[in-house]
Amino acid sequence: MIEIVSGNEVLPIDDSIANTRWGMSLKRVVSRLELLMLRYYKRNPLEQAGLRVVSDVYARESAMHSILFGGNSATLFSPGELLNLWNQARIMSEHGGAFAEVGAFKGDSAEVACRAKGDRQFYIFEAFDGLAPVDAIDPRFKQGAFASQKRDLCRRLESYPNTTIIAGYFPDTAGPVLQEKFSYVHLDVDLYQATREALTFFYPRMLRGGRIISHDYGHCSGVWQAVDEFFANKPEVLEPVGVSQVIVIKQ
Ligand SMILES: C[S@@+](CC[C@H](N)C(=O)[O-])C[C@H]1O[C@@H](n2cnc3c(N)ncnc32)[C@H](O)[C@@H]1O
Repeated sequence: MIEIVSGNEVLPIDDSIANTRWGMSLKRVVSRLELLMLRYYKRNPLEQAGLRVVSDVYARESAMHSILFGGNSATLFSPGELLNLWNQARIMSEHGGAFAEVGAFKGDSAEVACRAKGDRQFYIFEAFDGLAPVDAIDPRFKQGAFASQKRDLCRRLESYPNTTIIAGYFPDTAGPVLQEKFSYVHLDVDLYQATREALTFFYPRMLRGGRIISHDYGHCSGVWQAVDEFFANKPEVLEPVGVSQVIVIKQ
């Protein structure tokens, strides 16, 4: 159980099915319904273009298999979250600066950004050994979760120009980008420590108007605490969007 404080009220939330087979299966059903709804409502050509990208990501998973068996083979994002990423990457593609993602797993969010970024240089940091040791602040996760294969990610993204995959635990792997300036940074590392370290690295390297987006701000306690603490003494305003993302625009 975790506690959510809302005003003076404390709302207890049952968190016990998160990351279980049933929790993931439920998420798959909800995501499939959301995709249908977005396809129905978003008829303008601009968002239709984004939805085609999102639909392609969803087409990679077998709907019935992922609903019945849950698991991590399914996309970990809701359709609306992927559409948000596509829009942010599209807007930033004209802004200058490099793109980065920390935490790519099998490449869903990275591919969505690739399909909107144009020729921007995109650095993708992925440990491939899964999550680092987990602290008490990150109760949902286990060390080693989301391990994946570098060759699969390279194969998936090889056709996109100026895309560099850097293996290992960030920020130990940040050497090649120490001198870069960024306009689009997507963090999806699930844990407090990794989120905090990535913010510390990227924040001073963001262009004015550039965007840092973190997944899991809505429901992963380590992530929201890292983001809230980091920006507590900064001028930027946090903008939670979608089910579980937060966007920060650098001033
Ligand atoms: C939830 S998954 C990311 C999902 C991914 N964005 C997608 O599109 O499916 C979290 C990933 O973060 C990676 N990760 C966690 N901490 C990391 C770190 N410090 N450096 C690099 N990768 C990290 C894990 O290996 C894992 O693949």
